[in-house]
Amino acid sequence: MSERKPIVAGNWKMHNNTIETRTLIQQIIKNGKNLGQNCEVIIAPPFTSIACAAKEVKDSAIQLGAQNLFWEDKGAFTGEISGPMLKEIGCSHVIIGHSERRQYFGETDETVNKRIGSAIRNGLIPIFCLGETLAERETGQAFIVLKRQLVKGLESLKVENPVDFVMAYEPVWAIGTGKTASPEQAQEVHAFVRGELALLWGDKFAAKTRILYGGSVKAANSKNLIGQPDIDGGLIGGASLNAEDFLGIIEQGTGF
Ligand code: 13P
Repeated sequence: MSERKPIVAGNWKMHNNTIETRTLIQQIIKNGKNLGQNCEVIIAPPFTSIACAAKEVKDSAIQLGAQNLFWEDKGAFTGEISGPMLKEIGCSHVIIGHSERRQYFGETDETVNKRIGSAIRNGLIPIFCLGETLAERETGQAFIVLKRQLVKGLESLKVENPVDFVMAYEPVWAIGTGKTASPEQAQEVHAFVRGELALLWGDKFAAKTRILYGGSVKAANSKNLIGQPDIDGGLIGGASLNAEDFLGIIEQGTGF
């Protein structure tokens, strides 16, 4: 049994206004028996729903994450949200480097690195995402790309305690497509990522770091995925928008 407590995190992406947020959280809490006992549960609503979510998750085991942050703490940066703002509103986690941000919003390894630095500085736990595209996998580039994302994303940074750092492997070709990496494919990458992290921050740190899998995770496939030795939970998109589906993943994936 791994000493790493699994994490099931819901990335709501651009879904759920405040009314929908309230309803979904209430359903999760009402139907989620022993929530948080076998795994940590995190939800990441859009910015406009975070304050409302913070009220709803109070006194529950659900932790709150944001989907991005800007690396400066404050200033003339129209449209941006900073680490201290997320911290103040009740976030403990922040997703950084999601492939949708890399693909559609010009996110680079360098900007990912600055955002992770800001999260660490502000006492937020980064959920650092990496993953290869289909073209990169098909041309044999996957492991080169993953290593580059990891090394550049963490350049000059250090986290003291491994519980304060989370990674997520999300193959771009598996996000929202219904195609999941096979448990063996995902395990191979997770072991590789852990090995690369060990080269950077040491074996002990890497052995204690939770690495989540993301990409079309459902209750039906979560057990086999999260059952792999180096897969420590899931980062869930579509299936986190429905209480039954999300709780199904928690139950099937983490064993209660
Ligand atoms: P889906 O679960 O909808 O494939 O999304 C995965 C994801 O991008 C989570 O961050």
